[in-house]
Amino acid sequence: MAVYNRKDSFYKKAKQEGYKSRAAYKLKELNGRFGMIKKGGRVLDCGAAPGGWSQVALEIVGPSGKVVGVDLNEITGINNPNFTGIAGDFTKDDTLERVIAASPVYDTVISDIAPHTTGIRDADHINSLELVSFVCGFAEKVLKPGGWLVFKLFEGEGRRGLTDGLKKKFRDVKIVRPEATRSGSVEIYIAASGYMKGGGNA
Ligand SMILES: C[S@@+](CC[C@H](N)C(=O)[O-])C[C@H]1O[C@@H](n2cnc3c(N)ncnc32)[C@H](O)[C@@H]1O
Repeated sequence: MAVYNRKDSFYKKAKQEGYKSRAAYKLKELNGRFGMIKKGGRVLDCGAAPGGWSQVALEIVGPSGKVVGVDLNEITGINNPNFTGIAGDFTKDDTLERVIAASPVYDTVISDIAPHTTGIRDADHINSLELVSFVCGFAEKVLKPGGWLVFKLFEGEGRRGLTDGLKKKFRDVKIVRPEATRSGSVEIYIAASGYMKGGGNA
């Protein structure tokens, strides 16, 4: 119980500090660890609503950077000239065309994209894996060589196949569970760095 309350303090903190979601602290933690978002960088944020990650990414990239946030739901209230919000389904080509129109190349792709959960662990995993596969496929099209891909996955047996595939295209692939994740959650984050455009040796 004590653990849950401690974690839930991220919700109160987010409200106090003006972040649209407690998830903002997961991205801060991930970026503290990996440094995948850099000043002046171009960041694609997949599954971005209500916008906590995009807010954090905008702070890090600063005035010379760019953040494009995509979600089924409209992202409102981020009044920053370096932000482009796109309301659309990430699995649909017309949405992806709008993402490319906003920026054809990205330094970093981040994704907190998640399906509606059913409470059935295997089903949640499969639905999450399907969404994440779209994110990984698209990241390969738009990431610059050396770029980063960091995304959430609901843990399950398909994880191994996914990370094995990523290891052929990225120099390093790590799996993490941020402190700001609720205890008991099945979510993990996968951080892939050093994108090898055109494929690696493996
Ligand atoms: C956990 S929330 C993201 C929270 C966000 N990172 C933040 O900090 O505010 C997951 C999001 O994924 C979005 N999503 C799920 N399926 C999607 C799809 N096919 N295309 C675009 N967004 C999707 C949901 O609408 C939801 O807003």
